[in-house]
Amino acid sequence: MVGAMYEILRKTVLSNAVKEIDVAAPQIAKKGKAGQFVVLRVHEQGERIPLTIADFDREKGFVTLVYQEVGKSTRHLGTLGVGDSLASLTGPLGHASDIKKYGTVVCVGGGVGIAPLYPIARELKRAGNRVLSIIGARNRDLLFWEDKMAAISDRLIVCTDDGSHGRKALVTEPLKELFESGEETIAHTWAIGPAIMMKFCCLVTKSFNAPTTVSLNTIMVDGTGMCGACRVKTATKTYFACVDGPELDGHEIDWDLLLSRQGQYLNLEKQADERYRSSCACGS
Ligand code: FAD
Ligand code: FES
Ligand code: MG
Repeated sequence: MVGAMYEILRKTVLSNAVKEIDVAAPQIAKKGKAGQFVVLRVHEQGERIPLTIADFDREKGFVTLVYQEVGKSTRHLGTLGVGDSLASLTGPLGHASDIKKYGTVVCVGGGVGIAPLYPIARELKRAGNRVLSIIGARNRDLLFWEDKMAAISDRLIVCTDDGSHGRKALVTEPLKELFESGEETIAHTWAIGPAIMMKFCCLVTKSFNAPTTVSLNTIMVDGTGMCGACRVKTATKTYFACVDGPELDGHEIDWDLLLSRQGQYLNLEKQADERYRSSCACGS
């Protein structure tokens, strides 16, 4: 084993709010596959944080996680450094991505969604697909892994909302153009990022009748199908994103319900974050 259990072996600051860590977890590294996730706790009484397995090294026995500091628990995680250990790390959870030869595939990643997208795009490339990737973020500072995505993509389109890097566009614009141009027959699309981005990607692909997989970041607690927190609805079915997903058919999802459920604890989360920020020396 490379370090103590769940020890942080490496930490890279990708942007102000986005960090990348390698965590010693040989069993998870051995079994983990693209598309799966882990649930971690920073300390024994800590909240459970689901994070996608962004990469893994089976031989060295670690998994790579990329997280954006958005509230109390991810901010607390951000205070840990190399040599510190997580209190727990459970996984791999959820189903792996359905990797096979489709033909030409489009992989769309928004913001921190670029991290979960990367291993999927890489495995799709290894499976013999032509991989067209689109990555985007609000601004240059929030973009990361452009080099990694370029290395495994046949074509990479980079966008920022404000035009500070790459094309000034939302990811849905080049996505629509790829379909409209008709230059390539696109067999499958993956879209991973904020729910609102996935919703609009799905509206684009639905208009071209193009199968689309999304990775759902619903609120999760246990991550094993027991609490119901991650419930998502389609016209005919109810899924638990943690065990039925996290990847599901994006065209089936009731996005408006999902978006409203994601925001159901907003006030409590805001209060917890404010209390945390005022009680610790962790900064602004
Ligand atoms: P809070 O202030 O508590 O919440 C901020 C927002 O984050 C909430 O409004 C809600 O939308 C969301 N959130 C809060 N608690 C949870 C929870 N228990 N489960 C899911 N969402 C929550 N984020 C990353 O940065 N990188 C990843 O690779 C990543 N992968 C994920 C994979 C899955 C399967 C899921 C479900 C979520 C993933 N997330 C990822 C989102 C991440 O779990 C949340 O940002 C984090 O839990 C927020 O915790 P917080 O206390 O810092 O923020
Ligand atoms: Fe509890 Fe999915 S997180 S059922
Ligand atoms: Mg929280």
